[in-house]
Amino acid sequence: MDNINLEKQHAAIAAATLIKNGMTVGLGTGSTVAFFLKALAKRIKQENLSIIGVTTSFKTAIIAQKLGIKIIDIDDAKTIDLTVDGADEVDYDMNGIKGGGAAFLMEKIVANNSKRVVWIVDSQKVHLKLGLMPLPLEVVPFGSGKLMTKLGKQHLYPTWRKTDGRLLVTDMGHYIVDLSLKAIDQPSELARYLDGQIGIIEHGLFLGIADEIIIGTATGVKHLLRTD
Ligand code: A5P
Repeated sequence: MDNINLEKQHAAIAAATLIKNGMTVGLGTGSTVAFFLKALAKRIKQENLSIIGVTTSFKTAIIAQKLGIKIIDIDDAKTIDLTVDGADEVDYDMNGIKGGGAAFLMEKIVANNSKRVVWIVDSQKVHLKLGLMPLPLEVVPFGSGKLMTKLGKQHLYPTWRKTDGRLLVTDMGHYIVDLSLKAIDQPSELARYLDGQIGIIEHGLFLGIADEIIIGTATGVKHLLRTD
């Protein structure tokens, strides 16, 4: 296994130890979460734990089901005790960019309904300032060309996200637009602007959402904890 995957695995295994019998767990999306799902399934089996998962993408639902993790619809969950998810980029203020896997709308909804949110990342994703990674927007297809023009005029450098040469369509039936910003000096201000744009369903800035970030290292993990 290469170093990055080893770090992802370390973070994922550490997160799996946070799960307690009887919990309803939000299951994020992505390659780091895939390690977590494996570690969680192992614990469920070995310790005969009663765990219910609420998934954030069709992809995660398929993996969870294959691993024998029981899943339910978010609206059937009385509470989500803890959500474990990955991130594309995080800073030391516990903010992050998510959406590399195009699942951030569902991820934000699950996180927003969770008592506690833990992110698992490899060490290369921790940056002093967000923006190195593209910031994704989930947009309504109708009028999205007009929205692109508007975002371009605002110097937000939008590009369509494509897969196999076609516009990517999310699990919720929308398009993804990625903003190449290089550095985001005022994340809250940008989030407010994006929140106010008609046609943008959600953006990948996750501000003040994570309670804990577990950073995988070559030899173990480091933790960032929300203090407020
Ligand atoms: C999915 O839309 C994303 O938010 C993922 O959580 C994020 O891209 C992290 O994915 P990896 O663990 O694969 O890097």
